[in-house]
Amino acid sequence: MVNDFISGLPEAFPESYECTWKSPSNIALVKYWGKREGQIPANPSISFTLDHCATTTTVKFKAKPDKGFDFQLLLEGSPQPSFHPKIGKFLERIASYMPFLESYSMDINTSNSFPHSSGIASSASGMSALALCLMSLEKFLFPEMDDAYFWRKASFLARLGSGSACRSLEGPLVSWGEHRNIPVSSDLYGTPYRGGMHPVFSGYQDTILLVDKGQKQVSSTVGHGLMHGHPFADARFSQAHHNLDELMKVLTAGDQDGFIRIVESEALTLHAMMMSSQPYFILMKPNTLEIINRIWKFREENTSKLCFTLDAGANVHLLYPASEKEEVLKFIEAELVGYCEHGQYICDRVGTGAKQL
Ligand code: PMV
Repeated sequence: MVNDFISGLPEAFPESYECTWKSPSNIALVKYWGKREGQIPANPSISFTLDHCATTTTVKFKAKPDKGFDFQLLLEGSPQPSFHPKIGKFLERIASYMPFLESYSMDINTSNSFPHSSGIASSASGMSALALCLMSLEKFLFPEMDDAYFWRKASFLARLGSGSACRSLEGPLVSWGEHRNIPVSSDLYGTPYRGGMHPVFSGYQDTILLVDKGQKQVSSTVGHGLMHGHPFADARFSQAHHNLDELMKVLTAGDQDGFIRIVESEALTLHAMMMSSQPYFILMKPNTLEIINRIWKFREENTSKLCFTLDAGANVHLLYPASEKEEVLKFIEAELVGYCEHGQYICDRVGTGAKQL
């Protein structure tokens, strides 16, 4: 229930409080694409939490006599006015759940572990890190809060900042969106997946090939919106439920071929939805397709379990078991690096979630 997340006002407002959280990015295996009013996903999704790609955010809270939001934001030490509207909107959305927040000014200092404008969205890691800082303040004001509530509300708040951000707080697998066979699943927040994961998937690598580092032509917000009235929307939403059922079996059994079939199909379906919306658009680049074809050829010629997934952009995420690290990195250097902008890629792997520093 949404009302469970409305906090009261503390008896006193301490002068100041400071905290720092490092929160990772995540990569969806079953994709969220399409939402209803209030950041409610049109279908359930599940993601691997990443490890290295992360945002570190420090917030210094200072009590102030007047009410109203007041924040400063530094990205890598420099003011970032272009972020203000997004943060402002986020604070407005969460105001009723944290009525004490307007009695504090906030100095937000944030930095990303991945290069700025790498085409990697920082919204999942950034919004989850900020949500955790706000929850630390709430916990400071209401020390009796239990851990389960802390994480659940942090994910609930992160979702209101950027949908997929609610899957970044814990790991290694987090699902979000109601699904009949995931008892704890909710549309309101992400929950760590407890359905069992075969050891072949722990330590899975995610090497992100940076195909296009520029600004996307169509934002995720617009893309989600285009699922309203989309001719294939209903079929897509039920496919996501089915794929999540299938993925659960695959994860438990350690069926890597099944994993490849579902994950690659999900990636291409996401982009097929973009290509068949009205207006239609394409976020993949010619090099995205070159890489996909090279991966398929590599699999044909080797006994590899390397596969790919895509988010809402041109970059390609290569997913593979840790045991194949050496061969895959050789393959990337020999055949794929030429398709990356300035030859750049980022080596990441499955992680365990956010940490307070
Ligand atoms: O969280 P948003 O609104 O940026 O949407 C993310 C959507 C995808 O990355 C394409 C899929 C997903 O489930 O993360």
